[in-house]
Amino acid sequence: MTRSAGPTDIDAAARRLVSGGLVAFPTETVYGLGADAENPAAIAGIYAAKGRPSDHPVIVHLAPGADLAHWAKDIPDLAYALIDAFWPGPLTLILRRADHIPSAVSGGQDTIGLRCPSHPVAQQLLAHFARLKGGQGGVAAPSANKFGQVSPTTADHVRAEFPELDDSRLIVLDGGAAQVGIESTILDVSRLGKGVSPALLRPGHISAAQIADVIGVMPSLQAGTDAPRVSGSLKAHYAPHTPLVLLGRDEIEAAAQRLVAKGSSVVAVGFGNPPVGFVPADTALRPAGKNEGSRDPGIVLVGNARLLWVQAPEDPHAYAHALYAQLRAIDTLGADQIMLERPPETEAWRAVNDRIGRAAAAFGG
Ligand code: TXA
Ligand code: MG
Repeated sequence: MTRSAGPTDIDAAARRLVSGGLVAFPTETVYGLGADAENPAAIAGIYAAKGRPSDHPVIVHLAPGADLAHWAKDIPDLAYALIDAFWPGPLTLILRRADHIPSAVSGGQDTIGLRCPSHPVAQQLLAHFARLKGGQGGVAAPSANKFGQVSPTTADHVRAEFPELDDSRLIVLDGGAAQVGIESTILDVSRLGKGVSPALLRPGHISAAQIADVIGVMPSLQAGTDAPRVSGSLKAHYAPHTPLVLLGRDEIEAAAQRLVAKGSSVVAVGFGNPPVGFVPADTALRPAGKNEGSRDPGIVLVGNARLLWVQAPEDPHAYAHALYAQLRAIDTLGADQIMLERPPETEAWRAVNDRIGRAAAAFGG
């Protein structure tokens, strides 16, 4: 297990940010690749490292208690209600960007995405950075992965994504395995009024129903329609390297047998006992333990099995927590095909279904 970031690491990381450099840091959702949100050159460094188009906006991360008015204008009352209810936590609010905040942070749009993460290492980094900046300071950070890839949920994942960046170019703060495991819920409250309700741009751990409980209206589902450009809303995204397909339980067995007949190998992730012909992986898609640090749960191949079955948690939050780490672990096996058993099409599974649907779409599924 690698060492969790302490005060010395956090101080060095905050100073790196002040000097315009890059710092990867843990949040409760996934690891972020951070730079000073008010330094356009530093933000350009994020885009270059990720290989991400520069018209894609990034989220600005704030310490608890930060002054929203420094970052956004025309803030609606319901934004404050949502902040009271869900910050710190995995909810990103899209608001109108304050005039003096560089447009580089939002890909040239007049809005800004703000979020206050609950992870203690993120909070210490953000608070210390803001102090060094003289009070106000935010860290722009997309997920710390190359464009289009699976988001990192451990510090080791981050290092694996950026082998070309040594410590002098990227500080990686370790905060263990991310608790939530998938990216924050994104809610656009920047264009309310005239019958326009808040728009859910990206489903996440905080559900539409939970948001409705606070603001009294169900957000509209906008992802992929006329929503402002959201990189995670690209149809194909969040993809592992191994081709991935989503199938119903009854389709998996036949599809797998066809592939094996051609000499291919398959790792399937699904619910309950393995279908005929599959060998259970000894490590199921279980939530990583709290103290697991940065180690991947890993999957051990049984013999020379060509059909491996990874048992998925029945609970959507546990599934989300383990999902990206498992896809990365499966990628190391060199199988020809990943098959994911389709989870239920219910509200509770919306965020997971969104991510795995996009992963499958990357392979035309
Ligand atoms: O959980 C998370 O949100 C993680 C952690 C690091 O906080 N961050 C994350 O960042 O997922 P990223 O860049 O991979 O995804 C952020 C999404 C993108 O799809 C981006 O387009 C959208 O937020 N976004 C940011 N600012 C926006 C804006 N002003 N308008 C519309 N979408 C915005
Ligand atoms: Mg991302």
